[in-house]
Amino acid sequence: MQPATAVAFPNIAFIKYWGNRSEALRLPSNGSISMNLDGLYTRTTVSFDPDLNNDTLILNGRRSTGPAFRRVSQHLDRVRGLAGISTCAQVISSNNFPTGAGLASSASAFAALSLAGTAAAGLVLSERQLSRLARQGSGSACRSIPGGFVEWRAGEDDEDSYAYSIAPPSHWRLVDCIAITSQRHKPTGSTEGHALAGTSPLQHARLMQAPQRLAICRQAILERDFDKLADMIELDSNMMHAVMMTSSPRVLYWEPTTLAVMQAVRAWRADGLPAAYTIDAGPNVHVICPEVNAPQVIEKLEEIPGVRQVLSARPGGPARLVD
Ligand code: DP6
Repeated sequence: MQPATAVAFPNIAFIKYWGNRSEALRLPSNGSISMNLDGLYTRTTVSFDPDLNNDTLILNGRRSTGPAFRRVSQHLDRVRGLAGISTCAQVISSNNFPTGAGLASSASAFAALSLAGTAAAGLVLSERQLSRLARQGSGSACRSIPGGFVEWRAGEDDEDSYAYSIAPPSHWRLVDCIAITSQRHKPTGSTEGHALAGTSPLQHARLMQAPQRLAICRQAILERDFDKLADMIELDSNMMHAVMMTSSPRVLYWEPTTLAVMQAVRAWRADGLPAAYTIDAGPNVHVICPEVNAPQVIEKLEEIPGVRQVLSARPGGPARLVD
């Protein structure tokens, strides 16, 4: 069996995934929409080797044996199940962005692992099958399989819960300017957080209105209507964080700089600069804006005290195999 290498981009959710109907299969409580982030990537090589007695994982140059390793090995079990093999594998994976600081490294990681793993096992899967497989490794990873602007349909079961592209990367010249406020590992990982979502009295209300928010966000993307998109992504992000802050136990991902950026972005937009914020399960703030406004947005973000670094990414393509 030949080794295979895949590259996948993380994605930023415009309409968030928070909470599962099935934790085991990662069937989400609501559909979600995201944009892949070009330039930031995970690169993963998988080699199945009959001489190995155990799977091994080298993550960012270091041997990993903890929870990250177990999660990868479990995902390899899914690949082995599909291929009908029991061979152990070596996985070498690296990110070109900080891991665990809310930049959704699990999305690009499990998208790349699904593609490289199945290719190394000799399987050729459709985009939909790959997306379903990636979903079981990390929910948001299913959205890093197709390219550009992507919707994950919640679906009824394993078969029909997958992501597909609603518009290619070239459809809309948006930029995600990511204000990094901290490079710490987040205190509560998303997997743990999803399991708490149902304990918030606000989750029910959030889910009830998710179909409307999805429809408006999808339409805003298709029509390239920035004002509509801005309004919806901020509302959806606030709703998810309201659920996080009111679950048992409560989870608060924001730091003072997170709030400072949110307030600055609202003020800039009121002054006519098109920009909107959205925040995942971490303190960093993703500021979405049209490409023409990105230099100004980045400059302004860099001036905010507490912002350590600003990364930027255009809409990215699908996960792909590389030589
Ligand atoms: C806040 O996909 O990281 O980024 O399935 O447990 O790996 P697991 O969770 P994950 O959750 C992502 C949560 C989010 C919102 C989103 O990306 O939609």
